[in-house]
Amino acid sequence: MDPRQDYRDYLWAPFTQMGDLAEEEPLVIVSGDGAVVTDNLGREFIDGHAALWLANVGFRRPEIQNAIAKQAEQLSWFPSFGGMSNNIAVELAKRLVMLSREEEMARVFFSSGGSESVETAIKMARQYFHLQGQAQRYKIIARRKAYHGVTYGALSATGVTINRRLFEPLVPGFRHINPPYCYRCPYGLMPEECQFECALELEELLLFEGPETVAAFIGEPVMGAGGVIIPPDGYWQTIERICRSYGVLLIADEVITGFGRTGEYFGGRHWDLKPDIMVFAKALTSGYLPLGATAVRKHIFEASLGHWGDGREFRHGVTYSGHPIACAAALANLDIIDAEALVTEAREKGQYLKERLATLERFPVVGHTDALGLIARLELVQDKKSKRPFPKEDLTGLWVSRQLLKRGIILRPLGDVISFSPPLVITREQIDKIIDVLSDVLLVLSGE
Ligand SMILES: Cc1ncc(COP(=O)(O)O)c(C=O)c1O
Repeated sequence: MDPRQDYRDYLWAPFTQMGDLAEEEPLVIVSGDGAVVTDNLGREFIDGHAALWLANVGFRRPEIQNAIAKQAEQLSWFPSFGGMSNNIAVELAKRLVMLSREEEMARVFFSSGGSESVETAIKMARQYFHLQGQAQRYKIIARRKAYHGVTYGALSATGVTINRRLFEPLVPGFRHINPPYCYRCPYGLMPEECQFECALELEELLLFEGPETVAAFIGEPVMGAGGVIIPPDGYWQTIERICRSYGVLLIADEVITGFGRTGEYFGGRHWDLKPDIMVFAKALTSGYLPLGATAVRKHIFEASLGHWGDGREFRHGVTYSGHPIACAAALANLDIIDAEALVTEAREKGQYLKERLATLERFPVVGHTDALGLIARLELVQDKKSKRPFPKEDLTGLWVSRQLLKRGIILRPLGDVISFSPPLVITREQIDKIIDVLSDVLLVLSGE
């Protein structure tokens, strides 16, 4: 039986227009090795997107497989509720605190993925102010084009309009400012005349809302699913300064940017960011098992301290918080990141990818390319000079990604932005192959 038919007949896949799948070929992957995955027909693909921004150590790593098997034999699961836990969750919490010493994280709270960990961060921020008699400080400011997940709190922070519309009304108290999208600056400015107007918008909004009503600002150090938007130096420093001067908590959503992706261990380090709360998921286990974590600085944690029965404890937590098998996978994954210096690898190979991508700007249909470590973007345009996009209904980004797939390359379209986020173990030869194939497709799209 061809699993592609069962896909069409039984699965309801996320973010997928199932109606068109009757005529299309769904891709069903059955194995992976390094940066390469193989489908049910035996066809190989270079996975230029690390599955979903996360297979940082690559596929088929016996170190993680063995850690999972060993832990499953020892203890399948035990909860962390009510004064209990399991030794592996405790070990991973300590490891994450050590890893985030620069950011001064003091405590780690586990969940099962990114959305839940964002949800956790938002609730922590609201509870923090509640417990200090400032219940009116509940608003959360995020950015348009931000992606923070799909559960209601995380979705309310998300600024990708199409993800929000059909699920309204969303959670009250969320506001959005413009993103640092320099290629299409919302203020029509050139970098040399920019005073970080999009960051200063935060201050404007705070004054409009009343800073005493705002709990937190949340942002991805590099915006991912909204189109891989890499902020200019000075942007995050401005945001952080504004948060500090108005007593607003800063939440860094490191779900994509954590664990080496950008060429720093955490993405915020490029700008010396010192968030109050950090959110991790995805590459925490490189996808071997689902796991998310929310780390906080001391003051956030200490605000909840008291005694049984006083109701100050954090009354939040999913059943699988601190799942020992997932935590064992994470520990083995973090060992690999260290042992193979994958953060440095991401920085060096990212520079190579950035240079190779820049050569594609020779095509009239390529408006912009950029990269930071091994996260990168290529924006397609119909007219380079005016930056006029292709008509939306042409689905040009989707067309490009489908052409690449036919030629053995997986890259994701985010509208007309082609995004790159390969495993950090990708080789330079595999990067070359991606660029060569992409170049062939861009040649066709350019009508040359
Ligand atoms: C920055 C960011 N935050 C949160 C999430 C949500 O994570 P999950 O899909 O694991 O719920 C994502 C997912 O892509 C993300 O990119």
